[in-house]
Amino acid sequence: MIPAYVPNPVAVIVGGGTPIDLGKHYRDGRRVLGDGKTYRGLFGGILGGILVGILLIWIEGMLGFSIHTLLSVVLLASGALIGDLVKSFFKRRLNKKRGEKWLIADQYDLVAGAFAMVALFDLPWLTAHVTLAVALWIIIATPLLHRGANIIGYLAGMKDVPW
Ligand code: CTP
Ligand code: MG
Repeated sequence: MIPAYVPNPVAVIVGGGTPIDLGKHYRDGRRVLGDGKTYRGLFGGILGGILVGILLIWIEGMLGFSIHTLLSVVLLASGALIGDLVKSFFKRRLNKKRGEKWLIADQYDLVAGAFAMVALFDLPWLTAHVTLAVALWIIIATPLLHRGANIIGYLAGMKDVPW
């Protein structure tokens, strides 16, 4: 999951500038995605996840095993932030402001997005590596890592809210 966990914090660090929705409003009068979703955050975050994933492939090779491939890394990293975008789209439709809390969705958007991407484009990888036990660990660990990372980001002054 490391290639899926890295893009969000990288997006917080490198994000900013032009919003993906270009400031446009949806037919309900609210922003399509909001100012929290920027091109820099999206592409920088995905790139960060891919680079860390490539490092991971290299480390796995040195330790004599292999889980990740370039494809799995690209799918996990891009899926994480695509999930984040889809989440924000529905968050705006529910009239939740940028940065407002949305339990479950805020924590699991990256998991849903990453799993959806590998299920669509590399199902053999998903069935080979995400066993029931692995899936359970992901479900338990993700909200804890999410909370921990956001508290660090808040204390470091990089995030406006600690969630
Ligand atoms: N970010 C970005 N581009 C992205 C994703 C994130 O620039 N594609 C940056 C933004 O500065 C954003 C911060 O990372 O404010 C935190 O990301 P996130 O919590 O996903 O966004 P929120 O601001 O909480 O917005 P939303 O309510 O839509 O989740
Ligand atoms: Mg948020």
